[in-house]
Amino acid sequence: MAFTIAIDGPAAAGKGTIAKAVAAHFGFAHLDTGLLYRATGARALDLGGLDEDTAVRAAETLTEDDLARDDLRTSDAGQAASVVAAIPAVREALLNWQQAFARRDGGAVLDGRDIGTVVAPDAEVKLYVTASDAERARRRHAELVKARPDLTLDEVLDDLKARDRRDASRDTAPMKPADDAHVFDTTSMSIDAAVAEAVRLVDAAR
Ligand code: DC
Repeated sequence: MAFTIAIDGPAAAGKGTIAKAVAAHFGFAHLDTGLLYRATGARALDLGGLDEDTAVRAAETLTEDDLARDDLRTSDAGQAASVVAAIPAVREALLNWQQAFARRDGGAVLDGRDIGTVVAPDAEVKLYVTASDAERARRRHAELVKARPDLTLDEVLDDLKARDRRDASRDTAPMKPADDAHVFDTTSMSIDAAVAEAVRLVDAAR
């Protein structure tokens, strides 16, 4: 039986961690949809640039190998993802696959920006996970600084804000909570508490 959990929100708010934990708890499949946009951006750059034609070609020909690249977590890949994600034809090229994943037998958790609004508007449970800019920057900085010791908190904060602005202001599928989403502010809520609350909401909807 299909059962879809949609988890949206800005970068570094904790949605990926919550999505993974909830999927593991229920034995559901998990899709990090940001990875599709990151792989599309990285592949478009390899093919010559982030213009519409190149980005659409990249999205239409994505392979498993593209999704397994080890450079997808960098902030450059994040910015490229956010640029190609604003192109409607790129979103269209990635939509069917995400929708099939959402309705697969056995349950699915998808995290992204437009899951509850566009990809799976009929999802049984929708969460919108946020946290303050400062807290998100602190978390993302702690993750990235091991590989880049010279990285400052301000650089991370500027990067997150630029991406959020682009993701929230685009015309097609902008980042925003669905009307029926449960909003979790994880600034002062532990990830464990957020997971426990998400599990409770899913149990109540089953
Ligand atoms: O979740 P993330 O940081 O890996 O996402 C990278 C970018 O991809 C994000 O800045 C916007 C875009 N994205 C999107 O537009 N829609 C989604 N469902 C997921 C990601």
